[in-house]
Amino acid sequence: MKTQVAVLDYGSQYSQLIVRRIRELGFFARLYPPSEIRSLGPVAAVILSGGPRSVVEPNAPDVDLEYLKSLQAPVLGICYGMQMLNVRFGGRVTAGAVREYGPAQIHVDENNTLFNGLGRTLRVWMSHSDTVTEWPADGRILARNSTEHPVAIRWNERFYGIQFHPEVSHTEEGTKILRNFLSLCRLSPDYSIASYKNELLRTIPEVVKGREVVCAVSGGVDSTVLAVLLRESGVRMRPILVDTGLLRKNEAGEVVRNFEALGLRVEKIDAGARFLAALDGVADPEQKREIIGDLFVREFHAAAGHIELLAQGTLYPDVIESGTSGSEIASRIKTHHNRVGKILELKREGKIIEPLSDLFKDEVRELGKVLGVPPDILGRHPFPGPGLAVRIPGCVTGEKLDILREADVILIRILKQWGWYSKIWQALCVLLPVRTVGIKGDERSYEYALSVRCVISQDAMTADWADLPHGILREISNAILNGVKGVNRVLYDVSTKPPASIEWE
Ligand code: XMP
Repeated sequence: MKTQVAVLDYGSQYSQLIVRRIRELGFFARLYPPSEIRSLGPVAAVILSGGPRSVVEPNAPDVDLEYLKSLQAPVLGICYGMQMLNVRFGGRVTAGAVREYGPAQIHVDENNTLFNGLGRTLRVWMSHSDTVTEWPADGRILARNSTEHPVAIRWNERFYGIQFHPEVSHTEEGTKILRNFLSLCRLSPDYSIASYKNELLRTIPEVVKGREVVCAVSGGVDSTVLAVLLRESGVRMRPILVDTGLLRKNEAGEVVRNFEALGLRVEKIDAGARFLAALDGVADPEQKREIIGDLFVREFHAAAGHIELLAQGTLYPDVIESGTSGSEIASRIKTHHNRVGKILELKREGKIIEPLSDLFKDEVRELGKVLGVPPDILGRHPFPGPGLAVRIPGCVTGEKLDILREADVILIRILKQWGWYSKIWQALCVLLPVRTVGIKGDERSYEYALSVRCVISQDAMTADWADLPHGILREISNAILNGVKGVNRVLYDVSTKPPASIEWE
């Protein structure tokens, strides 16, 4: 889909959020590195994000103002973006003049397009230590903070800047401010997930050109939505499920049945024994991941045979993050295939399609909804590619996997019964590599300790442990201690991320 609003990313932690907000307002937005500005082509509006640098530093990231002027599109600078524009228009920014982090109150000076229909005083979210201290004579100050410094400027009829973050929910009326800004562009909002779905259904067959599409499915949200989307588009496809033996209890069979209900026949490869053999005696977490990733790709390719076209469920954050130093584990594993020569070869030959690569996770869920994917599949917690192996610190054995599967199924059942499953990001059990003394019946037992972890998170980058009511914790613990052979101690993990991670390995 053609970009309507380009967001130039100067490194703010909120850059992706700006894109989300703009899409919610009905304009298709994408994030671009500032260096790509000249390849943008015609766009309806441009937003310059905030960023961690200071415009007064030597070699601070800059903007190609002349090119922006030539675009004939409204431009909004946010924080760093505003300071940079102000300097380029001949104003001045002073480092450390005012430090504002978190909530602040601003006073809107006059009635103007950006604050149209809003009150004269607004609570906004700030995050800056540099401040605009001089501005060009023909610039107009639209709002000031409590120390009378400008926090919103209009340099001319198309160039605006704001010192605060309209994209974060803490900013009162932030969405309205963005909508007001977008009212300056000549385009009317027409992006929605339903319109995007129609575009995908139209373009997928054009790209596929009659070839057979194979895809690996796991039963998770992304691969399920991908498979249903491909089916809807009418292309010939083969969904393949590699059962690594590291899945949840009965999961592989359930996935096959769920797909059947969606009109898709999945080929299931029973590779559990081969995975277990490959993992025999391996305790190092990275080595375990590597073995699982490599074997997964080999199993998948052995089943797929000659591939005409491979579909991958890569999402937009994976695309943005790959290539940056902060590439996250989730994207590392999704691109796991890429380490393997075969995939690189397919990529070079143009035999890979990634139809979801412009969408955020919640947009994929929305897409799934409009495609008729059942809510219980769309609401599933994320599950790591290496499966239960990363929840068994140390060597993975069949016995440990069985114990973990039994405990996991109890945890998930109880969370669903209490209505907590949908409130939390992820729930997992970890089988600790330690056995402790206990007592079962009249006998001394010597069994494993098991840790339960339930976390609240937005995006898995940070997470807090879920403050579950004691009644639920008690029920989980009782049910696991009574129902799972091999466990005589249950712990609840109260670690935030950071410093802990969500998984234990
Ligand atoms: P961590 O443990 O890094 O996890 O806090 C963040 C999110 O990523 C998932 N995760 C993985 N997903 N392969 C995956 O596909 C992996 O190796 C992997 N490790 C962690 C984790 O479940 C959480 O959602």
